[in-house]
Amino acid sequence: MSPSVGVMADLRIGTLLESEEHTPAHLLAKRLNRHTFWCGQSGSGKTYALGVLLEQVLLHTRLPLVILDPNSDFVKLSDVRQDAPVDAADALGSRDIRVFRPGGDNPLKIRMLDMPLRSQAAVVHLDPILDAEEYNAMLSLATEYPRIKDHHLVPHLRASGAEVMHRLALRLENLGVAEWGLWAWGGRSVTDDIDERPDATVVDLGGFATQAESRAAALAVLDHLWTHREERVGRLIVIDEAHNLCSPDPVSAVDQRLTELIVQIAAEGRKYGLWLLLSTQRPSKVHPNALSQCDNLALMRMSSPRDLDELAEIFGYAPGALLERSPMFAQGQALFAGGFIAQPSLVQMGDRLTHEGGIDVPVPIR
Ligand SMILES: Nc1ncnc2c1ncn2[C@@H]1O[C@H](COP(=O)(O)OP(=O)(O)OP(=O)(O)O)[C@@H](O)[C@H]1O
Ligand SMILES: [Mg+2]
Repeated sequence: MSPSVGVMADLRIGTLLESEEHTPAHLLAKRLNRHTFWCGQSGSGKTYALGVLLEQVLLHTRLPLVILDPNSDFVKLSDVRQDAPVDAADALGSRDIRVFRPGGDNPLKIRMLDMPLRSQAAVVHLDPILDAEEYNAMLSLATEYPRIKDHHLVPHLRASGAEVMHRLALRLENLGVAEWGLWAWGGRSVTDDIDERPDATVVDLGGFATQAESRAAALAVLDHLWTHREERVGRLIVIDEAHNLCSPDPVSAVDQRLTELIVQIAAEGRKYGLWLLLSTQRPSKVHPNALSQCDNLALMRMSSPRDLDELAEIFGYAPGALLERSPMFAQGQALFAGGFIAQPSLVQMGDRLTHEGGIDVPVPIR
């Protein structure tokens, strides 16, 4: 066993590949205070492996996790498997893991008013210059939100009698935004829970009727974390399928805000304790300014030479000879490099201790 692996480390994620006696592989928990990029083609096992790491973080650290979960993959993170070792099962069972799902028992809600005006405007496709009057009306409306009862925003705007309020009502109605189940209006928001610093907050972005609602939820959470950055609470912000929220070419105003915010957190968040873990299939699908700030790399199977070249260029600390092995990786195998591992290593990921939210659909065999 390599003496540098395992001694100063604590997150046991699997075994070192090609080690004779299944030498445990560890990541350094204290180096999660950097941004991490997790990459691999579809089906390589990223989400499963991410779950293995997050379980270890829950077991061995007090680092609060905020998980933006686009496919409802982590909604069972508090559901320990029967075959998990008893001590781990007991420890995980005692962790404060809060799962918020659209329309669920613990509904995912956001107070629209809490979002910065720019983000509110982006949600309703308002431009501060092109739609100056409506934008301004929205600004003036902010103080009234606490007095507007659930789902009565449109009638409230109409009742004002002002032409500009009527136009705003029309816009909200046409976009269907006022009817979104996402809005908490005066009620409790998922950000209130995040502020209580549970061990993990799972934000299930998967169950919304429209993509717009899902994106607005993600934007509200990230806005909140960024707005409160001065509190300097160390947090790991996990974004699976990060290309959804941090595209290099965002089109809609909300997507532009999302990319802008994630790039900003990537550039400046570290010192405020906002640490990103971005997972995606191809490096080119995530904004390069977010990627270039990642000091930790986890690479699973990746057969595209172009993608591997790009990774080699961005992540100079990952040895080329190990990167080249990636097309041959079996599911669950990964290269780890960067600050969070004592030395670049090939790893066979261990088993999950908790249940996966969504597993692959099997082909029905006759
Ligand atoms: N190490 C593993 N052991 C057992 N099953 C695994 C392992 N890794 C992945 N799987 C299974 O393989 C399937 C695909 O894995 P996963 O969803 O993690 O892939 P992915 O890389 O996240 O793919 P995508 O990019 O499409 O989201 C899942 O059903 C998962 O349960
Ligand atoms: Mg996945």
